[in-house]
Formats: sequence, C-alpha cells, structure tokens
Amino acid sequence: MMDRYVSLDEYNTFGLHVTASYYSKITDAGEIFDLIKESVLTEEKHLILGGGSNVLFLDDFYNGLVIHINSKGKILLRETVNDVYIRVAAGESWSDFVVEMVNQGYGGLENLSMIPGTVGAAPIQNIGAYGTELKDVFYQLTAIDLSNGEKVLFNRAECEFGYRTSVFKTRLKDRFIITHVDFKLKKHPVINVNYGALHQHLYEKGIANPTVNDVSNSVISIRKSKLPDPAQLGNAGSFFKNPVVHNLLFQDLQREFPDIVGYNDMKGFKKVSAAWLIEKTQWKGKRIGNAGFHDKQALILVNYGNATGRELFQVAMQAKQAVIENFGIELEMEVNIA
Ligand code: EPU
Repeated sequence: MMDRYVSLDEYNTFGLHVTASYYSKITDAGEIFDLIKESVLTEEKHLILGGGSNVLFLDDFYNGLVIHINSKGKILLRETVNDVYIRVAAGESWSDFVVEMVNQGYGGLENLSMIPGTVGAAPIQNIGAYGTELKDVFYQLTAIDLSNGEKVLFNRAECEFGYRTSVFKTRLKDRFIITHVDFKLKKHPVINVNYGALHQHLYEKGIANPTVNDVSNSVISIRKSKLPDPAQLGNAGSFFKNPVVHNLLFQDLQREFPDIVGYNDMKGFKKVSAAWLIEKTQWKGKRIGNAGFHDKQALILVNYGNATGRELFQVAMQAKQAVIENFGIELEMEVNIA
C-alpha cells in the first residue's frame, strides 16, 4: 500500500513540517517483498524511516517514497542458564523494549534507557549511552537485501560495529532493510556504572549495589536533566559525533586549552567532547531565529519553534565552521540528512 502526500510531522523528532510525495507503512516483511517486486526501490528515490529520531529533513517536501517501518512483535527465542535470546521486530519502540526487559530483571539494556527511535534503527548507528553500546547486547539481525529480495542473517562481526556506525551506514548503506534484531540479555546482570555522570548520580542517591532498575532510573534522570524532550522541543539527540583525534593533536590543544575534555579511545587517539568544543565557540544556548543549540547540552541542535530544516542545518554548519576555525577539528554529523 502506497499513499500520496503524507505528512511526516509526527514522524520526525525535530518537529519539522514535511510532506512525502509517496509513503508506505510497513507492518510485515511481505510488504517489503512487494515493493521489491514492483522495482520501486531500485527506481524511485526512497528513505527508510524508523522513529524519525535521527534525521533532519532539509526541505518541507520529500520528493520520493518514505518507507515507514512499523512492524511489531517480540519473542523469546531461547533461554540458557545465564542468558535469554529475544527477537524483536524492527518497528518496536526502543525505549519500550528496554522498559520491558528492565522490569523482567534482564541485564544489558539498562544504560540504554530512554533513547528515542526504533529497534530496527538501533544497530545502524550502533546507539550508545552511559558506557554501553548496542553491540554489547546484540546477537544477530535479519535484513532483506533490496537488490534481490533475499533474507540475510548478520552476526555481530558482519555488522562491523564502530562508534555510532555499522556496515549499514557505510559499505552497505541503503542496501538492506532490517526486519528483526535478536538480543542476548543476561539473567544475572553485570552492572556497568563506569561512566562518570552515572557513577556520580548513583553515589549521590546512596545506592552502593545498583540493580538494573536503579541504573535505568538513574540514566532516565540524567537524560531528563540534560536532553530536551522531543515532544516539547524538537531535536534529534547529539547532532555531531565526538571527534576522535591523534594524541599529539590533543596534547597541543591541551596546552592551549587546559580544560579541554577528552577520553582515551583506540591506542594513540583521544575522543574529544564535541559538546565542549561547541560550548567554547559560544554556541551553547545560542539561537538564530528558532534554530540553535540547547542551553543544557551544547551538542543538541534544537528547533525552538517553527524553524525550517535548512535553518537548523545552517546553524549546525556555522557551529561546525567555528569549531574548525578555533580548534582545527572537523565535526562529523551523527544525524542523517534527507
Ligand atoms: N560537556 C560540555 N558542555 C556541554 C555538555 C557536555 O563541555 O554542554 C562536556 C562535559 O565535560 C561532560 C562531557 O562533555 O562531562 C560529556 O557530556 P555528556 O555526558 O552529556 O556526553 P556527550 O559526550 O556529550 C555522548 C553521546 C550521547 C550520550 C551521552 C552519554 C555522542 C555523539 N553522544 O554525549 O548520545 O547520551 O554521551 O553517554 O556520542 C546521541 O547519540 O544522540 C546521544 C544523545
């Protein structure tokens, strides 16, 4: 089923007013096979949309087909003494899934609480927060190859996960539609509270031996204190990635800016806080019209009202330019542009 001239206002967390010339809501993998048979995907410009929480539409009209993944369902695949394997349909809400697993006491997802978006989109950019990444709980996924309609299983290595990236964002970009993701969760959770802000929050609450529920609650309060709720203030989380730079460059910068924030990354490299870089260029809380950066977290590009996609993009590019001029570092976008 394909509809014409459908509003995407509800399907993008920047809250932009966008209309798609063609729109297809997918609730079942069979519908994807139909699109392939009709050669729609090889001939028409198209966009695969999950929760719309990581996309910035530049224009108010998307002249192509938006394939909105809405499939639902979760099943327990198998259980061992220590683990549960759970298969989740791509269109399920990520945060609802996390809540359900945390309530069951299964471990692994608690640090990833309250991330907007769908389960199927999560592996594409290997979502991460508070010291955990999707790859840490990932078992395998099923995807449909749009070039020939074949169903393909990808294990963890085949997904080529990296920091906010995977094979589906690089080599195989736009080639597959993910239909299910299988997770391996722990029945006897191993708590990870190494992330500074999380550790601090639990300490302040006087919680010495946190449960998955405690960790999830702390992550939710930290997120609420810094990150704007897209239902109130349009945004797509971090707009840029934290740049990874060579130790030698980091040391140079540190001499000039002793308070620069960076963390050890791969051997010989540091991951620099993009929020710090943006804050130092005076873009934190700054707006041009209705587009600007959040006043509590400088990495969040915000639609303060009726900004257009292009206005948001221009503000982002101005901040990026300021970071290049001040630090010689080129920020890379985390959000996809459509
Ligand atoms: N900081 C500033 N200014 C700010 C905000 C932060 O200088 O306005 C500095 C502080 O020193 C702070 C440090 O940056 O301690 C780290 O800040 P934060 O904990 O907020 O994390 P982040 O590096 O800015 C990343 C992810 C977030 C994720 C958090 C927590 C990226 C691009 N972003 O942000 O992910 O929630 O860590 O793990 O890696 C997302 O991807 O959309 C996202 C929100």
